[in-house]
Amino acid sequence: MMWRFCTLLIFGFQISVNGHMKRSIELIAAHEMVSQEKLSGDTIPTSYHLFLQPFPADGYFEGTVRINVMVNNKSDVIILHADQDLQIHNYNITQLLPPGKKMEGTKMVGNEPELYHPTPLKLKSSKRVKNGSLFIMEHASPLEPGAKLQLYLQFSGKLFNETSEGMFRSSYVDSDTKTKKWFVSTHMRPAMARNVFPCYDEPMYKVPMVVSVARLKTMTAVSNMPRESTKPHETMDDWVWDIFRKSPPMSTFSLGIAISELRHLSYRLSSDKNIHLRVWTRSDFITEVKNVSEKVEASLDVLEKFWGCAFPLPKLDILALPNYKSKRSADSWGVILLNESDLSEQGSWIITNELVYQWLGSLTSPLWWSHAHMNHVLANYVTTYVIKKLNKPDPSRDWYISTLYSVYYEFSKRYPYSNNTHIEHYTQSDKNEFVLRMLNYTLGEKTFVHGMQRFMSDRKFDTFTEDDIWTSLNEQARVDKKLPQAITVNEIAASWISVQRLPLVTVTRNYQDMTAYLRQKVYLRDRPHDIPDQEKLLWWIPVVLVKQDKMNFDDGTPYTWMKKEREIRIDNLPGDDSFIIVNPEEIGPFVVNYDHHNWALLLEYLCSENRENIPVLTRTKLLHDAWNLAYAGDLNFATALNMTLFLKNEREFVVWERFFTMIDHVGRLIDGSPVHTKFRTYVKILLTSLYEELGKEPEKGESDNIANLRRATKRWLLSAGYEPLVREAQESFKQWIESSDEKTPGLHQSYLCPVFKWGTLKEWNLGLERVLQFPATGKSEDRFYLLKNLAGCSVDSQKIEKMLNITVLEQNGNFTDEDISLIFDMLTAGADGYKSLFSFLRNNWDIVKVRFEKKPNLWNTLIDSATTLFKTQDGLDLVSELYVEKQGEFGTAESLIKKGLIKIKEETKWSNENLPVMEKWLDQYIKTNDVRSV
Ligand SMILES: *[C@@H]1O[C@H](CO)[C@@H](O)[C@H](O)[C@H]1NC(C)=O
Ligand SMILES: *[C@@H]1O[C@H](CO)[C@@H](O)[C@H](O)[C@H]1NC(C)=O
Ligand SMILES: *[C@@H]1O[C@H](CO)[C@@H](O)[C@H](O)[C@H]1NC(C)=O
Ligand SMILES: *[C@@H]1O[C@H](CO)[C@@H](O)[C@H](O)[C@H]1NC(C)=O
Ligand SMILES: *[C@@H]1O[C@H](CO)[C@@H](O)[C@H](O)[C@H]1NC(C)=O
Ligand SMILES: *[C@@H]1O[C@H](CO)[C@@H](O)[C@H](O)[C@H]1NC(C)=O
Repeated sequence: MMWRFCTLLIFGFQISVNGHMKRSIELIAAHEMVSQEKLSGDTIPTSYHLFLQPFPADGYFEGTVRINVMVNNKSDVIILHADQDLQIHNYNITQLLPPGKKMEGTKMVGNEPELYHPTPLKLKSSKRVKNGSLFIMEHASPLEPGAKLQLYLQFSGKLFNETSEGMFRSSYVDSDTKTKKWFVSTHMRPAMARNVFPCYDEPMYKVPMVVSVARLKTMTAVSNMPRESTKPHETMDDWVWDIFRKSPPMSTFSLGIAISELRHLSYRLSSDKNIHLRVWTRSDFITEVKNVSEKVEASLDVLEKFWGCAFPLPKLDILALPNYKSKRSADSWGVILLNESDLSEQGSWIITNELVYQWLGSLTSPLWWSHAHMNHVLANYVTTYVIKKLNKPDPSRDWYISTLYSVYYEFSKRYPYSNNTHIEHYTQSDKNEFVLRMLNYTLGEKTFVHGMQRFMSDRKFDTFTEDDIWTSLNEQARVDKKLPQAITVNEIAASWISVQRLPLVTVTRNYQDMTAYLRQKVYLRDRPHDIPDQEKLLWWIPVVLVKQDKMNFDDGTPYTWMKKEREIRIDNLPGDDSFIIVNPEEIGPFVVNYDHHNWALLLEYLCSENRENIPVLTRTKLLHDAWNLAYAGDLNFATALNMTLFLKNEREFVVWERFFTMIDHVGRLIDGSPVHTKFRTYVKILLTSLYEELGKEPEKGESDNIANLRRATKRWLLSAGYEPLVREAQESFKQWIESSDEKTPGLHQSYLCPVFKWGTLKEWNLGLERVLQFPATGKSEDRFYLLKNLAGCSVDSQKIEKMLNITVLEQNGNFTDEDISLIFDMLTAGADGYKSLFSFLRNNWDIVKVRFEKKPNLWNTLIDSATTLFKTQDGLDLVSELYVEKQGEFGTAESLIKKGLIKIKEETKWSNENLPVMEKWLDQYIKTNDVRSV
């Protein structure tokens, strides 16, 4: 459903689709792509000699490769990867016979391997597999295991120029000489080496490579290893060959080449290995990258200590490419390609992430693309680790945390990710990163890091599976005695990684015998909570415990583990004057509920002056868990509202952020009921005093925390209709309307919604006019935002009816079907919207039905938006009546309205239970608080 996206944007919860998720999606796509073309392993490569000559101006390349191969199983074919578009002009195979088996007439050629005699192999035929990327060479008689072969293949191919993958070319205009400069580079991940040369293009074939590249004398070439020598080209005077040193064993996708006229800065890094670092850019850009070497050095330093293993190569080239088209960097081994903007990034996340891949991805690689997901997750975790070490730790700025809340949110839906594979991949990868974080805390950082070192020393120059990671951690945990014998890291991890849900742990204390029952179940927020197979969902859950009498938030050692047990009992708890906190600091990615008394103890403490003894993340969690549990129907709403009382003294933005989300989510849940008005009053009371304390304007030198807090407070006050701010928005809107139609200067996007919501009918009409007479030269996104807010922010049924009259009944030519669909979607943002849409539908049923007869998508959106969002008995009655009255006329939308009715029943039940509780609490709150300013 589209509205979720739209409303999310309005309220500013933009889903942060960052560059890092690209990688995992790409890898999964690759997994699907290449899995049918898995090589048999009958022959395996032992080394490559690769010669490449790209002609960037002409857009193609030529090359030869010599592959040393060993026969593993008796076989009369040799199969290589070679893309359809790679032309193979010539090939031959020689067998290297051991001494004593010398055949008549063969000559010793070259000196490698010295003692073997090359003998040409009789070849029968070769073929390409249709639509695949396999090149199959058949020879006359089967070869025995142990036979050594040399394959020679001569080939040519096109340089990619629309994308930055395989071997590609691009150009830029040099600002000094105003001439066009070509460059050629490679990006072989995930499985593009086969587009560049015939090879065994699978991660496990890690063998040494010797690369030679022909280039124009005016250009420079880099590859994985340092250059060994340069020699003249056989036939072309202005070309030379650069020959690079033999690489350590590496997978084909780690191969990297870059040929350019970029300038570079050169450094010797002071780390143990004396690494030669070069940073390459256009000459214009070179000042922007002056501090890159410091960043690289600092990150490498932490990484070498983390992996317990020096940077694996003698040199590193980092290139900032103009026009680099890939969304993410290309991390060949020893050659990293980035966007210019990535290289000049503020912090060092991107560059560090690429450096992590030099170990995790190149030094060791996932065995198959299906294991690449954990590689990606672990690389992100290690990156975070490095960044944490580089910056002074500041728990309140822990970037993990806002991600965790969106992970909770996503997995608690009935249908996580709404069938969006992008959201699916990054939610899962974020969740799995939290599993690593949980292991770090519960095993302790020392054990975790040593476990990773064990993993790297075990798997280097080789491949790994997901299980190798857990096994190494497990072995280390045994050595360090960090896990009871009966528990393995592998089992713990599997229970979290394989399940795309998260648990809720409910703690019920017995204050008489000082014990508590802990019960786990799947955490769901959306109603009904009836997802299939719930009874099978069980996790290994670390029970980390903080007691009020001995508060220690630094020790992540679990008090005990829930070993995939539904319920356990713990003892030795304090008495009824002392709270406990389970899962402090979000150590495990799970939500925790308590009994009434424990919540009350927590609240009392949080309202006392000792409150800061509970650290920021834990305060955030308590607030988050309380209201989300109430939202889900698992906790009394008065308790959740009670928990917001400690905000009065709270000044940390991260804690408040949870409350702002609550305003949005709870606001929508109760919209249309009189309780919503009271809720808004309460929000205004709470935020007004904060806003007054913070001051209207930023102060010089104030912290980000305060600046963020003020900005958000202002926004939420505005959306709650706080008059001084609404007037400010109206003023700004007026200026905007009176200014020229061409541009939209001065109008802050966030002002549109409050003006259309709290402003006058006249203002709303002006907005509509603007859409109707939108200048042909105007930006289409301005029109989009106007339309979206006109529909999504109206709380006046007259406005909505007018809009529907114009667009649907009068079929005004200014509105496309997409516009109408957008309007329907946006009307679901509030109760006035969908209620008005429902009335419109009922009153104009016959006309509307005919109008959308041939447009099932619009019809479905209309029915879905108009009938499924009611949350009370009145709404249920209305929709039921319509359903009965128009029985058989819903067509394609029949199932939507039926599902809607089930949902409305659930929501009605929730409303009946919760609205009176909320109302009572809010009445009490409003009565006892100063309402002067609202
Ligand atoms: C095999 O091919 C390579 C490259 O084309 C060539 O240099 C070599 O002489 C050939 N060997 C034989 C035995 O034909
Ligand atoms: C890529 O090359 C093709 C043909 O070689 C050409 O038609 C196309 O315009 C080129 N694209 C770019 C972006 O240079
Ligand atoms: C790992 O756990 C330790 C506590 O044992 C903590 O100090 C550290 O910040 C954690 N590291 C990461 C990257 O979360
Ligand atoms: C997601 O896709 C599945 C199968 O394609 C479908 O059965 C399900 O209804 C879809 N869910 C949503 C929320 O669109
Ligand atoms: C909310 O707090 C008040 C005052 O602290 C208390 O009397 C009341 O029992 C609490 N309500 C719930 C449901 O926790
Ligand atoms: C919308 O159209 C209906 C039918 O033509 C009319 O009765 C109603 O007054 C119109 N509403 C508005 C707000 O223009």
